Amino acid sequence: MIKSVRGTKDIFADEAYLWNQIESIIKNIFFGFNFFEIRTPVFEHTELFLRSVGENSDIVQKEMYTFQDKSGRSLTLKPEGTAAVVRAGIEHNLFDAYQKLFYISPAFRYERPQNGRYREFYQCGAEFFGCENSECDAEIIFLADKILRDLGLKNINLKINSIGCKNCRQKYNSELKNFVRVNLQDFCSDCQKRFATNPLRILDCKKESCKKFLSDAPNILDFLCDDCKNHFERLKNLLDKLKINFEVDNKIVRGLDYYTRSVFEFIYNDIAICGGGRYDNLVFELGGKKIPAVGFGFGMERLISVIKEQNLFCDCKNRLDLFIGNMDFESREKAFLLMNYLRAENFKIEYNNQERGIKSQLKNALRLNTKFFMIIGDEELKNNVAKIKNLESKKEYEVGLNEDEIKKFLLERKSLEEKSL
Ligand code: HAM
Repeated sequence: MIKSVRGTKDIFADEAYLWNQIESIIKNIFFGFNFFEIRTPVFEHTELFLRSVGENSDIVQKEMYTFQDKSGRSLTLKPEGTAAVVRAGIEHNLFDAYQKLFYISPAFRYERPQNGRYREFYQCGAEFFGCENSECDAEIIFLADKILRDLGLKNINLKINSIGCKNCRQKYNSELKNFVRVNLQDFCSDCQKRFATNPLRILDCKKESCKKFLSDAPNILDFLCDDCKNHFERLKNLLDKLKINFEVDNKIVRGLDYYTRSVFEFIYNDIAICGGGRYDNLVFELGGKKIPAVGFGFGMERLISVIKEQNLFCDCKNRLDLFIGNMDFESREKAFLLMNYLRAENFKIEYNNQERGIKSQLKNALRLNTKFFMIIGDEELKNNVAKIKNLESKKEYEVGLNEDEIKKFLLERKSLEEKSL
């Protein structure tokens, strides 16, 4: 038997229904904040990620799904969404005016699969182009926070930091290198490479053997130039005014090379549900104008796993309004026609579509999570009346066997239900 590829997963039935609910809530929030959807291809020229995510990042060094197509081009499955959005924005002159874009799209990273870490996963991201001031960072963080609030997630911590501009970082990197050099031989082999290529990333190492040396490392916030310092102070001030709780954590440096100034992560039980920050040089570095930008990316699988763990949306299933059972060819046709009439009126209806006993039809109706169940047989056809049963309360109702009466019945039940909520 051919099985799914390691690190990938199939999403179906109630889980797929939950994904749809969550995605539609999130999309409505994006539209409410005046963000518009962008869909970019699933693969791009490899060079795009070398020049954005960074040649020395773990993603590029170890995690990309890169292949040659039949013409010998080097292509890569998107490891993240931002670079592709920037490429598309430059290509289609989207950045002439300020742009607010969002996407929910697959991403691929060859990482060791474990809880919340997949090789194919979905990123839900927002990117705000064309505005440099701290209000836009605050708007982006407020948006991510609103998504978490509206979904009802609890115990999520927001950590923010500033990694300054190129100038601040140059000074900081040389100070950090002086600090690390003393124990360099005891750091992991990755950190030893980072020491030469991108020392800041040493702060993000997850290995305890490296972390223990870093508690007294120099603080990047002490190295910010006046402009970067003011930018960060104002962001903190705005977040306070927006009543968003946060913690400043100078070890948040992010794993992608394009960030400047503000960076942040929303964390649940030590796992980042969402990560983001400002990237003021990326559009220019990829061949566009000097356009500042800030954005975030949620990991959909991680978000949904917390939703399930916290029992949110536990009643979130596709519910049928009515299942129409039947006994023979004639009653099946009647059921089929009724179903389609009621579907055209936007009710969720299913019918028994082949020869089955009543027991198995009822079982099927329960599996489909229906509210009401009816059976059409000879008697019902003759008298033009049928019984509809509420499968929860077990109450039975007599209804005329025609579209209008059934429609009236379902509408009355719906409005009664709404009143009792
Ligand atoms: P990132 O932190 O690399 O940032 O990824 C964003 C989110 O994707 C993470 O917080 C995590 O929830 C999820 N994620 C990452 N890797 C995996 C994985 N292997 N399995 C499951 N989920 C994963 C970015 O990619 C940036 N593009 C975010 C951004 C947008 N920054 C500015 N704009």
